[in-house]
Amino acid sequence: MREKTKIILDVDTGSDDAIAICAALLCEKLDVLGICTVGGNVEVKNTTDNTLRVVDCCGKPDTKVYRGAALPLASTLEPWSLQAQELPRKEGVKDQEIAVHTDHLPLPPTALRAQEKSAVVFLIETLLAAEDGEITLVPVGPMTNLALAIRADERILPKIRRVVMMGGSHDVYPRTQASEFNVWADPEAVEIVLQSGVPVTMVSLDATSHACLDRAQAEQLRQIDSPPARLCAELVEHRLKASAAEGDADGKGVGAAIHDALTVCAVLHPEVLTETVLTSCHVDLGHGYAYGETVLGRNYKFSEMPKNCLYAKSADSELFFDWLYGVLKKAASR
Ligand code: RIB
Ligand code: CA
Repeated sequence: MREKTKIILDVDTGSDDAIAICAALLCEKLDVLGICTVGGNVEVKNTTDNTLRVVDCCGKPDTKVYRGAALPLASTLEPWSLQAQELPRKEGVKDQEIAVHTDHLPLPPTALRAQEKSAVVFLIETLLAAEDGEITLVPVGPMTNLALAIRADERILPKIRRVVMMGGSHDVYPRTQASEFNVWADPEAVEIVLQSGVPVTMVSLDATSHACLDRAQAEQLRQIDSPPARLCAELVEHRLKASAAEGDADGKGVGAAIHDALTVCAVLHPEVLTETVLTSCHVDLGHGYAYGETVLGRNYKFSEMPKNCLYAKSADSELFFDWLYGVLKKAASR
């Protein structure tokens, strides 16, 4: 068998993060060196606990989970720079009942615990010990941990093969005024990564909005009849309900998209990203309506800006589902 692709996941678990973790841990072609957690969809104590519950559900108790940053780098230090307000939930939607992300996933508590070492220390130590270009980083939440590691020790940069991140938007309407959630939650962190020179694939909302699974596909996953497959089915259905509750009447809106699992799929199958453009990409850090916007393709007056980002504009939802189904089905038969 070809050598496995070594990855480090960075998650804010979260309902779609949970599906991404199942896929990454159960995929035979991936070697998950560790999972870092960060505050984002919910507080970091809950993203960490949720991640441990998913690891337990997948029957992978040896997977090492490292708790990361609770808060973004800078954006909450200036109380006047209130981050773009998230769109208010549709009237009558009680948060924990039908929110896209809840404090606790629908899984039993676990005896598994996070490692003593912090996520940033794990990232630095693991990358410094690696060969050049050996490890692919897959952040699917705010990128605070990676930005802190880069600022703390730039010697890690050549060790990173690529950052395949879930974040950013251009053509698809994001939840906040101008910015996709992962970037909006810590814009400075994403800009640090974009300026670092590390190869970046940005799996944006433009691409992930094509990764909306439907109820029939959720039922196909459920029929696999393993704990992780049943969890993924339940989370897909939950996201469809939450998306409808937030106004995506047909449940096909961005809210139902399985953003983070598509990002993991793109690590092994870049062809799932059916339209990409190599371009310059930087994050607006001004404290105005565009705070956190991912700005593509701008140039200096007399010279081109470096094309620092492979930006994904679309995705093949059938290829994505077939891959996710195949990973869960094969794992169930092992
Ligand atoms: O905008 C989508 C992203 O925000 C996903 O990673 C989801 O989990 C949330 O973190
Ligand atoms: Ca996420």
